[in-house]
Amino acid sequence: VPKAHRPQDALTSLSVEWLRILENEIRDTLHSEVSLLSEVPNYLLKLGGKRIRPALTFMLAQLCNQNTLTDDLLNIANGIELIHMATLLHDGIIDEAATRRGKESALSKFGLSYTLLAGNFLFVRAFGRCARLPSFIIKSTEKVCVLLTEGEIIEDEGIYRCEHALNIATRKTGALFGLAALAGIFVPTQDESLSQLGYSFGNDLGVAFQISDDILDVTSTEKELGKTPGTDIKERKPSLVNSLWYESKSQLARKILNSSDVITTLEISEALAEIENSGVIETTRNVGIEYVEKAKSTLNEICMQLNEDFDPNIRQKIELLTDYALDRLS
Ligand code: IPE
Ligand code: IPE
Ligand code: MG
Ligand code: MG
Repeated sequence: VPKAHRPQDALTSLSVEWLRILENEIRDTLHSEVSLLSEVPNYLLKLGGKRIRPALTFMLAQLCNQNTLTDDLLNIANGIELIHMATLLHDGIIDEAATRRGKESALSKFGLSYTLLAGNFLFVRAFGRCARLPSFIIKSTEKVCVLLTEGEIIEDEGIYRCEHALNIATRKTGALFGLAALAGIFVPTQDESLSQLGYSFGNDLGVAFQISDDILDVTSTEKELGKTPGTDIKERKPSLVNSLWYESKSQLARKILNSSDVITTLEISEALAEIENSGVIETTRNVGIEYVEKAKSTLNEICMQLNEDFDPNIRQKIELLTDYALDRLS
């Protein structure tokens, strides 16, 4: 297994116990008297997923000397993973994805209506959990969910520019990573400005993570990715790869991304070959690395503001997670 697909290396060093408790908590939250409504999200839950966002929340809380898993921490970690799962279901409808997490997608297994309703159900359950927290977290959650939705919408504008792609990544992925880190800091410290620094750290890490996802879409196999590669080309997504490819003045990029004809399998493989043999991946990777560097320097700033009152071992674990983002970029 290539290193890019072994997040566990970075995550298992975390308090596995907390993630195990969270897992049970999520399962309880998915309960509904109408069994089909639980079945769809339970299907997605059982397929795995990395649980990176709650892991981020837990690690930052631990960095701020939170040694016990309180209700607040558990509720917000739960809420954030539920929001993530809801967006995966809704995103799967928008992208018409056939696979997710290595298996048939909820969309192809249960159909559009149930996938949509299950996504709504997850959002409602998530807000129910988040609403138990202080208003600073509730307001941040609302902002982030609006950003997520905006991100999905502006993806459809047919614009292929680096700046636009980064704006999308910031909204659809950076925001929720930001919230995860913000909450991890706010629960133990109640410090809004330190939590905002956490948001900035998580946001940049999330953008790097989305950039690596964009790269993996063109460089990986179906087996490695757990979803169909080449989808971003086929769907004319303004991923950072596609945007930089377009900005590289490639004729093929113009032909494929500007038209509205169905893209043939041959065109996809031509596009993949051209992208792989051009400097586009390299440039994309470098942008991702800049985001990881920025995240690292913000983490440093957070540690400084904690006045040495933090466990260096926890800091190291968080750095493992940022290295994981880098790994995915290499
Ligand atoms: C997938 O997120 C969507 C992106 C932001 C690229 P993850 O890669 O965190 O998905 P799971 O939860 O591990 O499946
Ligand atoms: C990121 O969108 C996922 C969400 C924020 C919901 P993508 O469409 O790029 O993610 P994948 O490729 O489906 O995982
Ligand atoms: Mg999408
Ligand atoms: Mg998608």
